[in-house]
Amino acid sequence: MNNELIIVLDFGGQYNQLIARRVRECNVYAQVLPFNVSIQEIKRLNPKGIILTGGPNSVYEESSPHCDKELFELNIPILGICYGMQLMAYTLGGKVSSAKIGEYGKCEVDLDNKSELFNNLITSKQVWMSHSDYVSDLPEGFKGIGSSKDCPYVAIENKEKRLYATQFHPEVKHSIDGQKFIHNFVINICACKADWQMADFTTNSIKQLKEKIGDKKALCALSGGVDSSVVAALVSKAIGKQLTCIFVDHGLLRKNEAQEVEDNFKDSDLNFIKVDASQRFYEALKGVTDPESKRKIIGKQFIEVFEQEAKKIGKVDYLLQGTIYPDVIESGLGQSAVIKSHHNVGGLPSVVDFEEIIEPLRMLFKDEVREVGRQLGLKEETLNRQPFPGPGLGIRIIGEVTKEKVKIVQDADYIFREELEKRNIKASQYFAALSNTKSVGVKGDYRSYDYAIILRAVETDDFMTAEAVELPYDLLKTVTSRIVNEVKGVNRVMYDCTNKPPATIEFE
Ligand code: XMP
Repeated sequence: MNNELIIVLDFGGQYNQLIARRVRECNVYAQVLPFNVSIQEIKRLNPKGIILTGGPNSVYEESSPHCDKELFELNIPILGICYGMQLMAYTLGGKVSSAKIGEYGKCEVDLDNKSELFNNLITSKQVWMSHSDYVSDLPEGFKGIGSSKDCPYVAIENKEKRLYATQFHPEVKHSIDGQKFIHNFVINICACKADWQMADFTTNSIKQLKEKIGDKKALCALSGGVDSSVVAALVSKAIGKQLTCIFVDHGLLRKNEAQEVEDNFKDSDLNFIKVDASQRFYEALKGVTDPESKRKIIGKQFIEVFEQEAKKIGKVDYLLQGTIYPDVIESGLGQSAVIKSHHNVGGLPSVVDFEEIIEPLRMLFKDEVREVGRQLGLKEETLNRQPFPGPGLGIRIIGEVTKEKVKIVQDADYIFREELEKRNIKASQYFAALSNTKSVGVKGDYRSYDYAIILRAVETDDFMTAEAVELPYDLLKTVTSRIVNEVKGVNRVMYDCTNKPPATIEFE
């Protein structure tokens, strides 16, 4: 890799990947490495700067993660954050104490704007703290460059040795100007040129994947979602035909979706296997109405179909996963992510004969993943696809799933999405579901006894809570009219105004 590099040494804090992301926002490449990476390896990587992350431990506990004192003698600028600050001070001969009152959450601090770290930024500000230990005595050569009501040193520096540290978390949005502090460290103190771009990530990843996989074989479960599509496109650029992608069409996808997934990859140089397993899924779901049973059946069928196909290929060396940073459950200390809990891939490692899992997007946030996809030439529709649950329309059809009901909900959903997109109305997730209610209506001169479609559109940041979107009434009228006229089997359309909680986003 030719780019300038900032190494983020992981001491087990919650925000470690976020630090790397903030550095990348300064157009400098950052890589998170475990705290105990050797000095030799650090020298080999030749970083322009090092950031020591936070972590849950106390430096004076014997079992806590430490670093080699030599790290501070490499003549590389270092920024310690929270635990990283305490570790820097402790390792260099300062004293760390346990505070009677910890500081958690937003906190007012006074900063010395003459320090290069805070360069010209207003002195008094709000930052994000999360600590009970604090640096009580400074190591030789250091001076305090910030304090709070309860903490004598919220920031310290040894300008000559280019060692800086903050007790607070500049990487968290609640720290006002935090990103500017990181920028000051990376650009002014480490003297990085800021010439890294997402395109470099793509190029480097392709190169690294080529080196790692060599002439071996890799297998990817392609769902058609953003993450797995980007993984497939990225790895296929690296190893072409040595990559096999299996796409299982469970018959519970949105209208035209199976075809779109296929179109996305038809010109790629990879082995693309599409399995139309819809009939098998419909059979297995016959007569089943309980939501959890439906989920389990869909999951089990998926694994079985995948296993059958994977067996035909035989042993592969690598199994690819579209894990991205938000899926990574922080186990801290640089350990690997747990397998994505998405049911579609969660059970795969147990049925595929492989040597190792590769997660090429593990460092990236969703918008960064989209950017990589863009550079690889994936369509905007694929990249901006809203989240779609693994069990698909199976959990948007309340009650028993049948082929006929799938067709009804697909057609209604298509109309709803088309009308919203035509008006450029944005929502985090929007779709149609099929209620289990049939009601009396009148169509032409005939009495009808048909299903009710429920429309849902929600806005959310994290999908843990969500608010129903106040859609314009004329849109609802148009969609309703189109659905009852164009979709056979529907005579009523409703809009769900419920927030989450108490409702969930999906209906089952
Ligand atoms: P709920 O319905 O729990 O949905 O409010 C929150 C988010 O999760 C998605 N979801 C699923 N995704 N398998 C998935 O892969 C599932 O079984 C599943 N259930 C819900 C849902 O679409 C929403 O984005």
